[in-house]
Amino acid sequence: MTIREVQNEINRLKKENDICILAHSYQAQEIIEIADFTGDSYALSKLARTAPNKTVIMCGVRFMAETVKMLSPDKKVILSSPIAGCPMAEQMDVELINQLKEMYPDYTVVAYINTTTELKTVCDVCVTSSSAVKIVKQLDSENILFIPDCNLGAYVQKQVPEKNFKLVHGGCPVHASVTRRDAEKAKAEHPNAELLVHPECVPSVVELADYVGSTSGIMEYASKSSNKEFIIGTENSIAEHLQYSCPDKDFYVLSKALMCKNMKATTLIDVLNCCKGRGGEEIELDPLTIEKAKKCIDKMISLGG
Ligand code: 13P
Ligand code: SF4
Repeated sequence: MTIREVQNEINRLKKENDICILAHSYQAQEIIEIADFTGDSYALSKLARTAPNKTVIMCGVRFMAETVKMLSPDKKVILSSPIAGCPMAEQMDVELINQLKEMYPDYTVVAYINTTTELKTVCDVCVTSSSAVKIVKQLDSENILFIPDCNLGAYVQKQVPEKNFKLVHGGCPVHASVTRRDAEKAKAEHPNAELLVHPECVPSVVELADYVGSTSGIMEYASKSSNKEFIIGTENSIAEHLQYSCPDKDFYVLSKALMCKNMKATTLIDVLNCCKGRGGEEIELDPLTIEKAKKCIDKMISLGG
């Protein structure tokens, strides 16, 4: 079968079986094309609540599928590839967070959404890269314990200097692999290009950027900008999607290392199989865990707008 034939079959099965396909922007172009909705983590979390379909296939990583399940427990939620985890989400456990809460009892625990559902049960509020600054500013507490990404935490801290932050050493191994030297080299090679980076990059890279934002933020900025050249400092699929949607502009990858193998684990055939009711992994969460973990997702959506 050609790619187009597989896509046609997926589209037919989606209708027949009342399926909604959500795809994170890091997915490959051929998957983006068959998705009902594409976006950053925040947009996908919100869409998860309103999709009317009985079944949702999440083409992304595990914590994203678990977020959909928490927000729509009556739906059948399938993670398109069972091996697609987010290494950052697994970096901390409940025991560590409970110890930190004992050490810093008057701190509000702000968890990046890239965390396990279990971890969310002991946190106060979730944030995504596009909503973190807005949400942290609105919290009553002046004291913020930000987990698990110290790079995103450092970025938020800079934007909200009036609050006290405790950061814990954790983060995205893909984004954190980019060095300041990589950024300087890319800027020297493309002197007319603007550097757009994700806040999961280390602070010494972020401070060289012309724009810092989520995957959707970067895409929107580049599409609207009158500039013609951009260096993209996030997963390399974003540069590819932008080149496709803005053929009159030039996009360069900041580093070849910006490739998330987990986000790229899903193939079009995986999605076809999920639509046929085989493959993928159905997300199962016990109701008590959902009840406890969902509070910080609900708070994120109510403060994030
Ligand atoms: P976004 O919040 O930009 O979707 O980022 C998710 C992610 O996993 C980035 O690495
Ligand atoms: Fe996780 Fe980083 Fe991959 Fe995003 S890019 S899913 S944070 S490992």
